[in-house]
Amino acid sequence: MKAETAYHGEMGKQFAAQATNSAYNAHTDRPAMLGLAGDVDGLSVLDLGCGAGHYAADLLQRGAATVVGVDGSESLLRAAQDRIGAGAVLHHHDLEELLTFLADQSFDLVVMALVYHHITAREQLLAEIRRVLRPGGALLVSTTHPTGDWTYFGGSYFADEQAELPFGDGFALNYWRMTLEKFLGELLGAGFVLERLLEPRAEEEARRVDPRRYDKTHSQPSFLSVRLRRP
Ligand SMILES: C[S@@+](CC[C@H](N)C(=O)[O-])C[C@H]1O[C@@H](n2cnc3c(N)ncnc32)[C@H](O)[C@@H]1O
Repeated sequence: MKAETAYHGEMGKQFAAQATNSAYNAHTDRPAMLGLAGDVDGLSVLDLGCGAGHYAADLLQRGAATVVGVDGSESLLRAAQDRIGAGAVLHHHDLEELLTFLADQSFDLVVMALVYHHITAREQLLAEIRRVLRPGGALLVSTTHPTGDWTYFGGSYFADEQAELPFGDGFALNYWRMTLEKFLGELLGAGFVLERLLEPRAEEEARRVDPRRYDKTHSQPSFLSVRLRRP
């Protein structure tokens, strides 16, 4: 079994199926990130690693003027297209590469949910995000919580290595473990200014959907979400 980053084929289908109503994606990460987004009315939004389009659909429903989605998985982009219809522009692209198809300062908001830990060329990606964001624009990033990873993978908290994370039914993902210092250091080092940081717990609905994971997010941090500003 070869570990991947973009969620290709059947792995994408499995992610799409669970992301709609899962304790982690639907009821922990998304509500926190959409809360950090605030009022998106009339904004031009870029959704990096857009997956099955759950964020894009929500952002459009909340009044975003445009949403451009980018993902490396064709199966997830098909799911996104089915979910959003003609409402969003979707690009099949590897986020390890430059975003040359996006114009300078063309977005008010960039959303990157649960993607950052899959990317190796993070410095290049952050420079590209800075390029396409308007001055004063916002970047929202969520990732797995460093202490949650430490509990899961074991070893040293300070391990700086690519790990393999089992996913779904028989898949594995390449995944960068990083400390809080490294995660925030990379974002601030790229010239962004931290505005807010959340350690989200699952919302009440998750108690019904998945009581075990609801309890887990309330006793052990699972995710980290930040809002940054491009000066
Ligand atoms: C955990 S999913 C999150 C999807 C979506 N942001 C959400 O929260 O519903 C991670 C996403 O990142 C995408 N991804 C990971 N590595 C990528 C890469 N190198 N290039 C493009 N997409 C990538 C995957 O295909 C997948 O859609």
